[in-house]
Amino acid sequence: MKIAVFSARPYDRQSLDAANVRDDARAAFEFLYFDAVLDAHTVALAQDCEAVCVFVNDRLDAAVLEALHAQGVRALLLRCAGFNNVDVAAAQRLGLFVARVPAYSPEAVAEHTLALVMTLNRQTHRAYNRVRDGNFMLDGLLGRTLHGKTVGIVGTGQIGLATARIFHGMGCTVLGHDPCPSTAFEAIGASVALEVLLARSDIVSLHCPLTPQTHHLIDTAALAAMKPGAMLVNTSRGGLVDTHAVINALKSRHLGHLAIDVYEQESGLFFQDRSGEIIDDEVFQRLMTFPNVLVTGHQGFFTAEALQEIAQITLRNLGHFAAGTPCPNAVPPPAG
Ligand code: NAI
Repeated sequence: MKIAVFSARPYDRQSLDAANVRDDARAAFEFLYFDAVLDAHTVALAQDCEAVCVFVNDRLDAAVLEALHAQGVRALLLRCAGFNNVDVAAAQRLGLFVARVPAYSPEAVAEHTLALVMTLNRQTHRAYNRVRDGNFMLDGLLGRTLHGKTVGIVGTGQIGLATARIFHGMGCTVLGHDPCPSTAFEAIGASVALEVLLARSDIVSLHCPLTPQTHHLIDTAALAAMKPGAMLVNTSRGGLVDTHAVINALKSRHLGHLAIDVYEQESGLFFQDRSGEIIDDEVFQRLMTFPNVLVTGHQGFFTAEALQEIAQITLRNLGHFAAGTPCPNAVPPPAG
């Protein structure tokens, strides 16, 4: 069986090839790797393939799904947890098999969240450059002790819980907001309404999925409800945050810090080397001008352990498709 792998970086090839071995050491499936993002312009690359394997910024809207189906594609394998980029209703209508990787080292994203908070709070990114330049002044590097501060976790699922455990371990008070509160979270923190979380937290960290209900969850009103000088962290999906509203909150000095690993318009930027080009996205470029903003390019998941898990689970999902057996990672999740 041939599978077209889109948005394939060298590390994807390496991890998928390593997982794609049968007991007799031969490759189980034939992967065709493409650097290109899957969209209406690149869909023809999947010609002759029975499945496509995609990542967070591949576009699987109804038109792309119909084109894939017309070419003979019958399965969509997501190398990620979120499936906001897939028109699930269209996929169901076409009878496509859709499977994702619901969990792969939630600690990887939680630890990256911590890295962002610590970097921005203690300005280690600026200190690194300063010291290398022979400047040992401390002015401008003043941080705050996190012990005793309040951290609000929006979405206390796997990643939110792992993040809450880290901050709890650092001596922070942890608040959580989730329509399905978990007892595991409530063992270390208090479940509260979103307004309470926003009003009380020194750091607000987003860990809920992007859905029509959570789109621009953090808008002008939510930002106004946050504590003056608080930090907003988003390692979940860019669309959770209204970036224009965030820029206004930064300009008014109400929002103290912003750390993001995801950005609503990231698909034209992230996972690409644009260093020799002029970047036309003026909203993104405005963000880059703030000294209290830290951006990473969707690398929360990017650990060796997580890549290995993603590849192994993707191969397992593919095995279910090939064998016609029920897949526990089907999208939408099986009822019950
Ligand atoms: P999960 O499904 O275990 O947890 C998500 C939680 O959000 C659930 O408990 C759910 O009830 C809750 N939720 C749903 N709607 C909500 C709302 N309106 N307000 C508050 N909470 C709400 O998912 P997991 O594994 O923790 O992943 C969370 C998100 O992290 C994913 O949806 C994905 O977008 C993002 N992610 C980012 C990565 C990165 O590299 N930066 C890597 C992996 C995931």
